[in-house]
Amino acid sequence: PRSIFFSRHGESMFNLMGKVGGDSDLSPRGRQYAQELPKVIAQNLGDHELTVWTSTMKRTIQTAELLPYPKLQWKALDELDAGVCDGMTYEEIEVQYPEDYANRDDDKFNYRYRGGESYRDVVFRLEPVIMELERQTNILIVCHQAVLRCMYAYFHNLPQDELPYIKIPLHTVIKLTPKAYGCEEVRYKVDI
Ligand code: G3H
Repeated sequence: PRSIFFSRHGESMFNLMGKVGGDSDLSPRGRQYAQELPKVIAQNLGDHELTVWTSTMKRTIQTAELLPYPKLQWKALDELDAGVCDGMTYEEIEVQYPEDYANRDDDKFNYRYRGGESYRDVVFRLEPVIMELERQTNILIVCHQAVLRCMYAYFHNLPQDELPYIKIPLHTVIKLTPKAYGCEEVRYKVDI
């Protein structure tokens, strides 16, 4: 049976500062995760083939850097675009755009950042990725929390209102094995 592995990028400098979006480098802890990741994958893959998909953002490319498999970058896997809020903390967004902040709280799936995207937009742009994924064998996708929420909800058939709240922790590999009905799931947490 084929496996689909998901991982967020390792902790980034923006994660440390509590800022959304951006294109920051990995933090020292994030780089440690990148060093551990090849072992975790190798242990669970055996000698099967694997292809690694990342976004075009530095933090995912750096996370995948040491993985000894063919790699492909997808713009469609880039993080949800926070538009004018890119680079701000949630506190700053609440102060500068209180109405937006409240609207997002009301309907997080449909809320679209000014000049940016909604979760619904991300689901739409992931369509070609999912089409291709369905044709592939073993794939590891290293990308971002909002994007992985959409992928995860697709494979587990979770409803739109739950999707934006799915917890995809840092430094954890999620392995999905599609079965006739639904997906089997195992998680590997990397302690660093
Ligand atoms: O790190 C930011 C997440 O990818 C998106 O977070 O949609 O819950 O604000 P949020």
